[in-house]
Amino acid sequence: MPDERKLHLNAFLMSVGHHEASWRLPESDPYAGWDVKHYQELARIAERGKLDSLFLADSPVQQGDPGRRPTGKLEPTVLLTALAGVTSRIGLIATASTSYNEPYNLARRLSSLDHVSDGRAGWNIVTTAGADAARNFGLDDVPLHRERYERADEFLDVSTKLWDSWADDAILADKAAGVHADATKVRAINHRGRFFRVDGPLNVPRSPQGWPLLVQAGSSEDGKGFAAKWAEAVFTAQQTLADAQAFYRDLKQRAATLGRDPDGIKILPGIVPVIGDTLDEAREQEAELERLISPEYARAQLAERFHLTPADLPLDEPLPDDLPTEDQIEGAKSRFTLIVDLARRENLTVRQLIGRLGGGRGHRTFAGTPEQVADTIEEWADNGAADGFNIMPAVLPSGLVAFVDKVVPILQERGRFRTEYEGATLRSHYDLELIKQ
Ligand SMILES: Cc1cc2nc3c(=O)[nH]c(=O)nc-3n(C[C@H](O)[C@H](O)[C@H](O)COP(=O)(O)O)c2cc1C
Repeated sequence: MPDERKLHLNAFLMSVGHHEASWRLPESDPYAGWDVKHYQELARIAERGKLDSLFLADSPVQQGDPGRRPTGKLEPTVLLTALAGVTSRIGLIATASTSYNEPYNLARRLSSLDHVSDGRAGWNIVTTAGADAARNFGLDDVPLHRERYERADEFLDVSTKLWDSWADDAILADKAAGVHADATKVRAINHRGRFFRVDGPLNVPRSPQGWPLLVQAGSSEDGKGFAAKWAEAVFTAQQTLADAQAFYRDLKQRAATLGRDPDGIKILPGIVPVIGDTLDEAREQEAELERLISPEYARAQLAERFHLTPADLPLDEPLPDDLPTEDQIEGAKSRFTLIVDLARRENLTVRQLIGRLGGGRGHRTFAGTPEQVADTIEEWADNGAADGFNIMPAVLPSGLVAFVDKVVPILQERGRFRTEYEGATLRSHYDLELIKQ
């Protein structure tokens, strides 16, 4: 029986850190974002801390202004394959878009990663917001939000059929009889749907976990409906305990309504921990990062999100009253609402809002001592807001080192986190069954 008090922790790796100005610190290597050795070091640190998994975000588009900060990034399944070679237990979660892939190619890549890593692959399923990505795939604009999720649903239907196209016991490897596999157990899927026509079977035999761990990260109505049906772990941005509790209740309830065990879907809000030996030291680190933000650049990004021009957002005034509503946003709906709510709730000026978003783009930033970080993690977990956390260090590697060496031991002492990996697969770390058939 899994111990329900035990938390699940994922390391969200991003170049030299989640803070948009982290690359400007003296300690940061501005080339690290595409250096496999940097990621290998991060993976080893996360595994030393016995974290459940590490995760790479992705979008098939050049995001942000390359003139202002490091922006390019490596394709996650390729990079995770290199990380699989230098680790043995930690889960490896790749983001891949259902809007800009074909199920056969992607199901194959993820199944390959599961083989290469001996059962440690996960897929963060995203539908990809933004017209700029659409324009890399022959489209003029981003497909409608609802339609992206409808395609995602069929994409999962096809992918899971492909992973199931090889039975667990299809391979016989009977050299004496000259029979390699029971060919009746490798079956076509003959899928005919609205978005896809796929004959199958997959050209990769059944992988160690059956399916990779299915992870989801959109929190709009459609996103939650999709997660309740498919996801086994959910990453989410939540600013307050009350909002996180409401999200947690809602998603577990939706899963139960669909006949799923609510414990089979682990909810992991993001946290950007800024850790100091004293609270003052943590606050000073946070302030130093904020001083390095370029407000003009951040304002342009905010304006784009709101369908405004930068001039519509004077830095020392609150957000304008007449912003679009979530219904009018076809991109990332839930993040839009989170940002507007944050600014209004705390009466922030645009400049202050930019400072608050600098650390984690809407994820909750928490500056404190290791004990305080451990306390807030426990508080959320004990009050129906989280099954664990998506750890998003503001600066990498130093923020991950601090978390692993200072916060994890406290959680272990309090009996809230494993001191050794118990199983070998990513599914086992998340207390989930392998997919058998
Ligand atoms: C922790 C976290 C990580 C995310 N990573 C990605 C990503 O790598 N690529 C992406 O396109 N969207 C990513 N998203 C965004 C969502 O997957 C989703 O595309 C976006 O929020 C729009 O969905 P929604 O409108 O349902 O909220 C992430 C969201 C969260 C909370």
